[in-house]
Amino acid sequence: MTNNLTVVILAAGQGTRMKSDLPKVLHRIANKSILEHVIDTAQQLGAGSISVVYGHGGERVPQTLAHLPVNWIEQAEQLGTGHAVAQAIPSIQAEDIVLVLYGDVPLISKETLVELIAAAGKDSLGLLTAKLDDPTGYGRIVRDESNKVLRIVEHKDASEDERQINEINTGLLAVGRNKLAGWLEKLDNKNAQGEYYLTDIIALSVQDNTDINTTSVDKIAEVMGINDKVQLAEMEREYQMDQAEKLMRQGVTLRDPRRVDIRGDVTAGKDVEIDVNVIFEGTVKLGNRVSVGAGSILRDVVVGDDVTIKDYCVIEDANIGAACQIGPFARIRPETRLEENVHIGNFVEVKKSQIDKGSKINHLSYIGDTTMGSKVNIGAGTITCNYDGANKHQTKIGNDVFVGSDTQFIAPVEIGDGATIGAGSTITKEVLAGELTLSRSKQVSIKGWQRPRKKK
Ligand code: UD1
Ligand code: CA
Repeated sequence: MTNNLTVVILAAGQGTRMKSDLPKVLHRIANKSILEHVIDTAQQLGAGSISVVYGHGGERVPQTLAHLPVNWIEQAEQLGTGHAVAQAIPSIQAEDIVLVLYGDVPLISKETLVELIAAAGKDSLGLLTAKLDDPTGYGRIVRDESNKVLRIVEHKDASEDERQINEINTGLLAVGRNKLAGWLEKLDNKNAQGEYYLTDIIALSVQDNTDINTTSVDKIAEVMGINDKVQLAEMEREYQMDQAEKLMRQGVTLRDPRRVDIRGDVTAGKDVEIDVNVIFEGTVKLGNRVSVGAGSILRDVVVGDDVTIKDYCVIEDANIGAACQIGPFARIRPETRLEENVHIGNFVEVKKSQIDKGSKINHLSYIGDTTMGSKVNIGAGTITCNYDGANKHQTKIGNDVFVGSDTQFIAPVEIGDGATIGAGSTITKEVLAGELTLSRSKQVSIKGWQRPRKKK
């Protein structure tokens, strides 16, 4: 059945309550637009095609999401949900099952949709409903004495009695394309809002003897729409709590699941511990027994086994080898690769550098555009001067090098294996292997010198 599924995502609504110039569906949850969340879920259903109905003047939506494999269908005027779905009909194959989703309902799960699709067949329509304590504003599901669905009545059109019904229409449904097309042609807009309601197809399908099978959701958040910034923040928390729960189910220890943010994909080995206020972005892979300190940010990082990342580190686009120790307060910038057991201490910045096994940069350094051998010790305050104002240059440091504190490497420069560099040196030329090199001026003392005194 998966091959003849078409998903239609309604996303033409204006979203005025967001009070933003950005179209509503481009606002973000976990750093991904809410529409993209819906499209991603639709893709997991193995749909043959996905159509997104976007609004007039909303060109920013297809422009921003142009990389996604969907059909963009413009609904020039927002004449209602029925009218919106009708725009997509011509592009849908006769035998397809059509699944209707909303672009502003981002947390709908694949499992819920699989059930909903299964409820739709040749002679049946699947309708996703939910029971709410406060159903105000929603369309209500009207059933007969034998509990058969008869129709949906919109809140604004409902009688006092009908408004007592707490089973609501989530808006999400699945049905055969040809039946849907036939009913959509019969819609009118004689209702309180003067719109072509998709919900009116329910009464039409009853007339057609099409069974209506309702399905439901485990979690109400799955069917909650986002209309303003308060709901956006609520859905962000819901999403984050789900992500946190998934990690904990995989065995990750989260010091506080309410204080971790996952804006991408995190995979973790065994016995991983995450302290509070950590942010993960992009694709992050954590090995076994990794610990991440409070307030750290990891973006597109692969971390080996037994690594300790202490508090407040920012690590981006990097590969951290097994048993490394990083931080606190370290910054590892893109294209950095640390081999096993490297130590990066506080206030150290490393950029676009390869650092081999067992090397240590423990305090207050900048290492950029550098290849460094194994077992190197970099003294506090050492800086690679990699930029001459126009171009970047490389620093090459061999194995077993000892660099005294406060050394500057004026790149391009090479340091041989086993070299020792005296503290305070400015290295401008090749340093030979095994030698002591220092460029500091000799210390002198001036005998009998007196400090100036204040004139009276
Ligand atoms: C709709 C349902 C209501 C249901 C509720 C659930 C109808 C008539 N009513 O009401 O039964 O309880 O959703 O949230 O369907 N859209 C378009 N083009 C349009 C109109 C809407 O693309 O011309 C899109 C919106 O962007 C949104 C979705 O359709 O994603 C629903 O529209 P909205 O205006 O929120 O519908 P409601 O009036 O809330
Ligand atoms: Ca709505």
